[in-house]
Amino acid sequence: MPDQHRAIVLIGPMGVGKTTVGKKLARALNLPFTDTDALVVEEHGSIEKIFADLGEAKFREFELIALQKACANSGVVATGGGAVLSAEAQKVIENCTVIYLSTDGRHITSRLSHGNRPLLKNGVEDWKRIYESRKPIYSSIADYEINTSTQPLAATISEIRERLGI
Ligand code: S3P
Repeated sequence: MPDQHRAIVLIGPMGVGKTTVGKKLARALNLPFTDTDALVVEEHGSIEKIFADLGEAKFREFELIALQKACANSGVVATGGGAVLSAEAQKVIENCTVIYLSTDGRHITSRLSHGNRPLLKNGVEDWKRIYESRKPIYSSIADYEINTSTQPLAATISEIRERLGI
């Protein structure tokens, strides 16, 4: 059983459902929920505008601070798809329980229709390229990988709880 004081951090590609799964998991476990993208937006305004006005590097700085704040709580944390790529970010989550939500991409086109993601100017083609390049990182830092493409949301929640023994 994982240490109850460690944050449970959900990582994985854009559109995989980290926020949706995170909210439901937190509710089921009666734990607080934090979303790093939401924290950044709260403090600095829309992600699209941050990318346009200040650039991606600045967004990554804001995101790292959000990750540090989120992981200070013993709750469930949903991350942005690029939030755990840097060595600094990986240091922040090293004592957390890290769950990689993976996908074969079958439902991704409809999921990406919500929200404007600055890195997906060319839609699903960009998504595929970015996900391929990040897959080895997600796998190497995760304690558990859950394939979300072959099961409904409720089953993903159950699988996480089973794997963590909570
Ligand atoms: C990004 C993912 C987005 C958001 C930003 C950059 C990325 O979050 O943080 O657009 O680099 O993968 P989601 O994974 O929640 O879409």
